[in-house]
Parts: sequence; structure tokens; C-alpha cells
Amino acid sequence: MSDVLEASLPFDLLAPQPADALLGLITLYRADSRLDKIDLGVGVFRDDDGQTPIMRAVKAAEAALFEVQTTKSYLGAEGDALYTELLAEIVFGDQASSERMSGVQTPGGTGALRLGAELLARANPDAKVWLGSPTWPNHAPIFAEAGLKTRNHRFYDHASAGVDFTGMLDDLRDARAGDVILLHGCCHNPTGASFSPDQWAALSNLCETRGLIPFIDLAYQGLGDGLAEDALATRTIFAQLPSAILAYSCDKNFGLYRERVGALWVQSGNRAIADRVRMNMLSLARSLWSMPPDHGAAVVRTILEDAALRADWVSELGSMRERLNGLRRLVAAAHPRLSPIGVQRGMFAMLPIAPAVVAALREDHGIYMAGNGRINIAGLRAETVPIFTQALMPHID
Ligand SMILES: Cc1ncc(COP(=O)(O)O)c(C=O)c1O
Repeated sequence: MSDVLEASLPFDLLAPQPADALLGLITLYRADSRLDKIDLGVGVFRDDDGQTPIMRAVKAAEAALFEVQTTKSYLGAEGDALYTELLAEIVFGDQASSERMSGVQTPGGTGALRLGAELLARANPDAKVWLGSPTWPNHAPIFAEAGLKTRNHRFYDHASAGVDFTGMLDDLRDARAGDVILLHGCCHNPTGASFSPDQWAALSNLCETRGLIPFIDLAYQGLGDGLAEDALATRTIFAQLPSAILAYSCDKNFGLYRERVGALWVQSGNRAIADRVRMNMLSLARSLWSMPPDHGAAVVRTILEDAALRADWVSELGSMRERLNGLRRLVAAAHPRLSPIGVQRGMFAMLPIAPAVVAALREDHGIYMAGNGRINIAGLRAETVPIFTQALMPHID
């Protein structure tokens, strides 16, 4: 019976899928018995002991929730409305309470991106989504699985280790009104390269004059230059343009990775459209995940509601940021070719090396990183920076 059923299912037509390269790297790293091995591959924050700690405010909020929570009953497709409201103040500052804004809780930044993609596909299936090269590898599949076409534009200039803004504007000449540009709000993954304030202003003007919709991915607020500083570009864009989208992740800046905490905000031209957007966000969320998981968002809400917990979170986030930026300064000082790493921001940087060198660093020195040369700065410690830069030195000119 089961044979007959299986034979009638078309699963044998499914194409094989590549394994996740970073997961393969974790396996290789674990199997490496060298005591001085260095893991710069996996994209999570690490402290000086190589741990990804639970933040103090998170622990305290979890303890408080344990005491006060009396039910696990459903919350609804929008999730925890107070979480979204309090978080909006962190993101948008005094622009948070606009009646043109629709916001819902999502399962992580990935859920926010996917919900935004589904909303765009429902509103304008012909919209193309422009992605910089390179970008977080999950961006293209998220939009493609929602049925949208994606196009690439230049973003990172390997020679200067900065933004190729001229190349980007050149490529965007092909963008049409209604197309969408995906922009990393801060702390670009994988390059760490940022637009200058002037470039952000130019992008905002470009969207306005050409009718392009900015879709900002803000996954690392507070890990670059500061909470307000990292949100500045988002605020500029939302202040200038009638329509804009923001996918947000709390998974990195609250260290809540596995709890899947995010939010999607969409700004519309007026309140009536915003209401319609909200209805559609909720109906899409119902069919995607029905309602988001509660725990992580309840933790964030508890922290933001309580002045002492909030202050402690801001302070610990500040230490995490300082650790990243301190390590960046040390790496940058080692060689002129590495100096851009000192001005880049966030957890990641791309080394100016070929895949063969990435393999050689792994095999000869036990230094692990993604195949494209992306390193997680947080995988370093002040003591391992010289080991890392000396191993690298023969391979950079
Ligand atoms: C740029 C960017 N956007 C979104 C995400 C997704 O975040 P989350 O883990 O909250 O889904 C990541 C995660 O690595 C990311 O780097």
C-alpha cells in the first residue's frame, strides 16, 4: 500500500538542493583537533570566551515572564502589539507613531523579509527587486520563492573595499517605477561597507524621483555605531518617501537568535492605504505561520517596558559593539590592505583573498571562514588577531 502511494507522489522530480555551506564549515571546524583553530565562519556574535551569551536583560526578562505569565493562549496574527509599538520607538524615534505605518511581529528578520515579499507580490507581481552584489545569500531566494523577479546591481568594490556607488547608480538606470531596492540599513552582511550620509540622501532622492520602493533590511541595529546612529538612514528614507518597507530582526541585537524575533513595518501614502496594507499583512501571515512565536517578542517587550532592563540592554549592546569595533581597529592596523575593516561596521568583512587562499588558511592554519572570504569579526579575540593577520599576510599585496 505504502509503495503504491509513494510511487504516485512526484517527489522523485524534485531537484537535489545544495547543502548549507556554513553548516558544512561547522562540521569541519568541530572535527579539527588543533587547539589554536579560529572560527570566523558562523554568523553569530561571540564574546571573548567564544560564547554567544544570553544577554543579562534577556535572562532577567525571562525570569520575570516565568513569574507573571498566566497563559499560553493564542495571541493572533499580529503577535504582541505592545512589542511592535515599543520597538517602533527604538527604530523610528519620534516618527514611530505615524498613522501611515502598519507594523506586525514576525518570526525573525527572515519572516519579515518573506512577509514583505509576499505583500509586494500580491500588490504588484511585476515589481522587480534589486539586490546589491554581494548580499545576504538568503535575500534572492526569499523574493524568488514569493514569485518576484530579482536583479543585481553593483554594490561592493573589492579594490577599495567600499561601496561602488557610481556602478550601483549606473545599474539602477534599468529600474522602473514600482521596482523595489533592498538596502541594508546598517552593518552590511557580508561586506561591512556602508553608504555615506550623502549617498543615503542620494538614494532617497533616487527613489522619490524614479518611483522606486525602498525595502530596508535592518538586522543589526546597535551593533554598528549606536542605536540611533544605525537607524538614521532608515529614518531619513521613511521621512522623505511616502512608501517604504522595513524588515527588522531582534535576533542579533538582543541575542535571541533561536527565538525568532522580528517585525515588518510598511509605510503607505495615507491612513486608508495603511489599513489595507495591514489587513493584507495579517491575512498573509495567517497562511504563512498563522501567528508568530511569542516568547522572544515577550522578552523584548518586557525589556523595553522596564527602564532598568532597557538601560542594561542598551549598555550590554554598547559593549558588544565596542568589542566588534575594537577588534576591527586591531585588524585594520595590521596591514594597509586591511585598513578599510576599521571603518566598516557590523559583524562581517570580506577579505581580499581568493577561494584557494580561504582553503589554505583552513588547512594550514585552522582558520575557518566562508568560501567567499567573509569573516565574522566576533570570532576573533585580541590575542588571536596577530595569529590571524600573520597567517593572512603572505596572501595579500
Ligand atoms: C542582512 C540580514 N538580514 C536578515 C537576517 C535574518 O535574521 P533572522 O535570523 O532574524 O531571521 C540576517 C541573518 O543573518 C541578515 O544577516
